[in-house]
Amino acid sequence: MESNKPRLIDIIKISDPRGNLAILQANASLPFEPARAYWINDVPAGEMRTGHAYHSSRELIIALAGSMQVVTQSLDGEISRFTLHRPDQGLFIPSMTWRELTDFTTNSVVLIVSDSLYNPVDYIRDKNEFDNLTGLNDNKYE
Ligand code: TYD
Repeated sequence: MESNKPRLIDIIKISDPRGNLAILQANASLPFEPARAYWINDVPAGEMRTGHAYHSSRELIIALAGSMQVVTQSLDGEISRFTLHRPDQGLFIPSMTWRELTDFTTNSVVLIVSDSLYNPVDYIRDKNEFDNLTGLNDNKYE
């Protein structure tokens, strides 16, 4: 059974004197069939992005350039913190996981690959609502 915990995944990288090439391929370094990709750049200092969870979507988050912090909260309330700073490493986020991206360095670019098409109905944007759904509405995330 797939773990419901976020986890770092090594992405296949081929390095030679011409530089690095990294590959995401379904069922290889990518633990799902991709349906959509989007990327975020030019995040002003102090901004937070992607403060939400999905009912069903799963994503892989990759720092293509620069670095950023990702804080996650799983269904059982477990909080994890990750620093993403390598284009050959992805953070897999299962469904029903709250995530926040912060501390973007200047010129950072984050790529997010999703297993589903954009569907606003799949979003949980209210942390209180997420905590109610998980039965953990005790402000552990503060
Ligand atoms: P939003 O979900 O607020 O960004 P973040 O992930 O940082 O919380 O998305 C910003 C806007 O972009 C919002 O109006 C929805 C829109 N959007 C799409 O239309 N399609 C997409 O695939 C995504 C990710 C966002």
